[in-house]
Amino acid sequence: MQLAQRLLQTPPYPFAELARLKAEALRNGVDLVDLGIGDPDTPTPAHIVAAAQEAVADPATHQYDETGMGLPEFRRAIADWYRKRFGVALDPDTEVLRLIGSKEGLAHLYWAFVNPGDVTLVPDPGYPVYKTATLFAGGESYFMPLLAEHGYLPDLEAIPAAVAERAKIIMVCYPNMPTGAVAPPEFYARLVHWARRHQVLACVDMAYSELGFDGYWAPSLLQVPGGKEVGVEFHSLSKTYNMTGWRLGFAVGNAPALAALNKLKSNLDSGAFLAIQRAGVAALTGPQDCVERMRASYQRRRDILVDGLRALGWQMEKPKASIYLWAPVPPGLTSAQLAEIMLKDAGILLTPGSVYGAHGEGFVRMSLTVQGGEAEAKLHEAVRRVRERVHLNWS
Ligand SMILES: Cc1ncc(COP(=O)(O)O)c(C=O)c1O
Repeated sequence: MQLAQRLLQTPPYPFAELARLKAEALRNGVDLVDLGIGDPDTPTPAHIVAAAQEAVADPATHQYDETGMGLPEFRRAIADWYRKRFGVALDPDTEVLRLIGSKEGLAHLYWAFVNPGDVTLVPDPGYPVYKTATLFAGGESYFMPLLAEHGYLPDLEAIPAAVAERAKIIMVCYPNMPTGAVAPPEFYARLVHWARRHQVLACVDMAYSELGFDGYWAPSLLQVPGGKEVGVEFHSLSKTYNMTGWRLGFAVGNAPALAALNKLKSNLDSGAFLAIQRAGVAALTGPQDCVERMRASYQRRRDILVDGLRALGWQMEKPKASIYLWAPVPPGLTSAQLAEIMLKDAGILLTPGSVYGAHGEGFVRMSLTVQGGEAEAKLHEAVRRVRERVHLNWS
């Protein structure tokens, strides 16, 4: 059996490797504090589950999703939610596209726009899918370093002209995974200007847009004049409504770009389960106090972990948004070595920053979602274990 080059060149999906390490630790009887994958640890809110149950029982949802861009009620709900949240009007017929989770849309976008030899601009560190999807499409990633001293924003002016000329897509993600950084509206204004100048599609991965802390609300690229002319945003119901397993997301913005993505998708998938899109309507139009509770809960978890670890001398930033802490690795260790020490000595699973790119080295990512137990107690336990079992010079 001969595999395709594109697959041979692709490293295993980082979270598959993390799942393997976790399984091994559990087999060895380790009492794990799992801060690995970012996967909400509380159930989907009951009113969304109830809407889905009702929808599943309706035979009208059992057939192919032949709705084109997605169930009209779902697209209208998205446009209404978007107007209320960002003050931006979207045409639900042309500027909204349902996705089978935002990962699906992000990955397929590259197939719609990238020819062999084209360049895509990818944040480093970043979600691995941007780079892999570029590779699958025969393109080449140019990595934009996200540095602490620039607030983990890419320096657009540092992108060489020759690279910008060959570029098809520039991808950014804010609130950022893995660093937890946020982007101010001025950054989006610069991005729109840059994308216009170089005729590049500007994309924002907004998977964590609703998870802001201390009253922070993430802005949108589409709020900037000209945003819709050059940009598309990818949103997800996964983290906002604890719906990771349901597979539902959406893209909004530039109509021709969304039509292109939909043309590609309609040749690959057959839409999303209509019952799940109805559940998406319930999520976006129903009570939002469930999201407020999630925000408050992640904020408390963030404070337990950051305050606790800072007290041990491990300095790290307190993120304004997202569900991740991005913590520096002590001198003399790689991120993989620190992850191994944390797992072996303290039974704490976290992700080495190096899996997110070369500029992720020197950091580890800790997720505020905690698998398998009462989260806040587990986070206190994590701090205690680091204090008692991990003897490193953190500064
Ligand atoms: C940065 C980022 N974008 C997109 C996704 C994909 O989310 P989903 O496909 O569940 O919508 C994730 C998932 O962890 C993510 O971290």
